[in-house]
Amino acid sequence: MKATILVLPGDGIGPEVAAEGVRVLQTVARIWGHDFDFPEALLGGCAIDATGNAFPEETHTAASAADAILLGAVGGPKWDDPNAKVRPEQGLLGIRKALGLFANLRPVSLHPALVGASPLRAELLKGVDLLVVRELTGGIYFGEKRRETINGVDTATDTCTYTATEVERVVRAAAELARARRGKLTSVDKANVLESSRLWRRVSDRVMREEYPELQHETILVDACAMHLIRRPADFDVIVTENMFGDILTDEASMLAGSMGLLPSASLGAAVEGRSTRPGLYEPIHGSAPDIAGQGIANPIATILSAALLLRHSLGLEEEAAAVERAVAKVLDAGLRTRDLVGPGEKWETTAAVGAAVAEAVAGGQGTPLPGVQV
Ligand code: IPM
Ligand code: MN
Repeated sequence: MKATILVLPGDGIGPEVAAEGVRVLQTVARIWGHDFDFPEALLGGCAIDATGNAFPEETHTAASAADAILLGAVGGPKWDDPNAKVRPEQGLLGIRKALGLFANLRPVSLHPALVGASPLRAELLKGVDLLVVRELTGGIYFGEKRRETINGVDTATDTCTYTATEVERVVRAAAELARARRGKLTSVDKANVLESSRLWRRVSDRVMREEYPELQHETILVDACAMHLIRRPADFDVIVTENMFGDILTDEASMLAGSMGLLPSASLGAAVEGRSTRPGLYEPIHGSAPDIAGQGIANPIATILSAALLLRHSLGLEEEAAAVERAVAKVLDAGLRTRDLVGPGEKWETTAAVGAAVAEAVAGGQGTPLPGVQV
C-alpha cells in the first residue's frame, strides 16, 4: 500500500517520541512491502516561532492532503504567557477542528507486567479494558469566549454549546465501537446541572434506544464516573462523553495503565468504523513534558501505539496494527522500561532504545507474515 503519513513532531518531547513512531512505521513498511512517505510540518510552539501562527496554512494544506497524521505533542513554557495572542494549543485545537475530527478514541488497557506501575491495587485492575470516546470539536473548548469588565470587575466567560447533530454522530461512532467490543456503552454527562448535558442525554438515549437496542446502555454523571473509574474500572467498556469531561477523565484513566506515557489516541472524522474518510490524527494523550525534553527519557510507547491505531483506522492494516501492539507487549514482557515506569535505582532504557526494541520485535515478531506478503 502507498500512503502519505504527515508527521507533526511539535515541541518538547514531541520530536523524540514521534521519531520512534516513524521508526516503527518504517519497519512495518519494510516487512510488509508498503510504500509509506513521511513528510513533516510545523504545529504548535515551533510553528509560532517560525511563522507566528500555531497552525500555519502550509500545515493545513499538507494535513488535508495526507492519508493520516502522526503528532508528537505541542506546548512549553516558552509560549506560556497568559497574555500571548497565539498559543501552541491553538494549533492542536485548530487542526482537530479544521479536519472535522470529532471522535477522539482513547483506549485504556493494562499490560500485566505493569500492574506494579499503577498506583491502584492489583485486584482493582484485573480485566481493565476500556475505550473513552471523547467528543473533540465542540463544547466549551470551542464556544464563545469573552473577557470584559462588568461593574468594574474583571469577568471571563466560556460558553459550552452542543448541537443535537454533534451529539448524535459521536454517540453513533461510540456505539459502533461498542458493538465490535463487549457491547456496553456508558454515556457521561452532568445533566443535573448543565443544559448542554440535558441535550446530550436526550440525544444519546434516543440514538441508543432507536438504533442500538442490542447494546447495554447506561448513563452516569461525570462526578460519579470519576469515582467509578477508580472503584470499578473493569466494569467499563466504551465511555462516550463531551470534550472537557473526556479530557479530564482520560488523564485519570491513564493512571490505571501505570503511566501517561503509555496511552495512545486516534482522532477521527466521519466513518469511524473501517477506514476514515478524512485523514485521522494520531497522538499520545500525554503533553510535551518540556521538563524532560532532550534527555532521551521520554516513553515512546504511547506514540508507537498511536502509530498502531493509525495503521488500523486510517490505512485499514489490521494485521500490521496488531503486530505493532504485540511487539510493544513483547518488549514490556522482556522487561524493557523507560524511566517513568521504574522505581528509584531500577534499570531503565532510553526513548530510542525502547523504540528500536519495538521495531526489532515487529521485524522478528511471531505471527507476522513473510516479508513482502500483502495482507
Ligand atoms: C489533550 C490535551 C489538549 C486538550 C490540550 C493540550 C489543549 O490536554 O489532548 O488531552 O485539552 O485537548
Ligand atoms: Mn488532556
